Amino acid sequence: MKLLKVSTGGESNKPAIWIDGGLHAREWISPATVTYIMLQLVEFRDLHPELIDSVDWYIMPVANPDGYEYSHSTDRLWRKTRSRATAEQRWGRRACYGVDPNRNWDFHWGEGPASSSNACTDDFRGPRPFSEPETKAMSDFILNRKDQIKIYLTLHSYSQMWLVPWGYKDEKPKDYYDMYILAEKGVEALEAVRGTDYLLGTAAELLYTSSGGSDDWAKGVAGIKYSYTIELPDTGSHGFVLPAHEIEPVGQETWAAIKSITRHFTDARVK
Ligand code: ARG
Ligand code: ZN
Repeated sequence: MKLLKVSTGGESNKPAIWIDGGLHAREWISPATVTYIMLQLVEFRDLHPELIDSVDWYIMPVANPDGYEYSHSTDRLWRKTRSRATAEQRWGRRACYGVDPNRNWDFHWGEGPASSSNACTDDFRGPRPFSEPETKAMSDFILNRKDQIKIYLTLHSYSQMWLVPWGYKDEKPKDYYDMYILAEKGVEALEAVRGTDYLLGTAAELLYTSSGGSDDWAKGVAGIKYSYTIELPDTGSHGFVLPAHEIEPVGQETWAAIKSITRHFTDARVK
């Protein structure tokens, strides 16, 4: 798995932002948008030097590489990883592959609806928390830097929603308002670019509850106060198969949101 660190040095005593993409294989706009963010952070760094001087960035553009590859070679709408289920995890005799990597994180794992124990379903939670090398590697990396990482962002599609924990239950964290205020900055900046409408709220409010997600784990276990799932465009007309000409505008508006929350954060109005 590839991870990019963007830093101007300083022995990791700066606040850091984590961004991952492509946890779900078929959500192709996500790795594309993370790539656009990398372009801004590396090639165009002179346009916004303060964002690179004051923050360290940890970027993982393809968090589910085997699934991503499979969605290119074989099944465009593949969602999960590609691990092979054992006979006990399957229902029936069919060989089934893949774990939903956004049901596999070790925080209230396996609780509630939309997290299946059937290996043949699209929301299979896996045989145990962090059964997948992908989620295990990501979580180990994040835990090792949990005091440095101030914002956790994971990009998914589709829906045009900025999701705030919790996702596993229909309740809000105590500091939900702080998280909401920062997210609102992001959504405002995003919508200002070309008027794309985003909804802001918890997954339970806007979608459905589901446990084992990376956003809940980042907040509940790693203790990263600002943890969000961004569901990129569109709202369903193209769905996962967003036309390529949308890559650049989605990149632009998402980058505007990330710039805005980073500035709001480093301007010390939020701690
Ligand atoms: N579409 C995402 C999924 O189903 C939403 C995840 C929201 N976060 C959560 N912890 N449920 O994986
Ligand atoms: Zn997703």
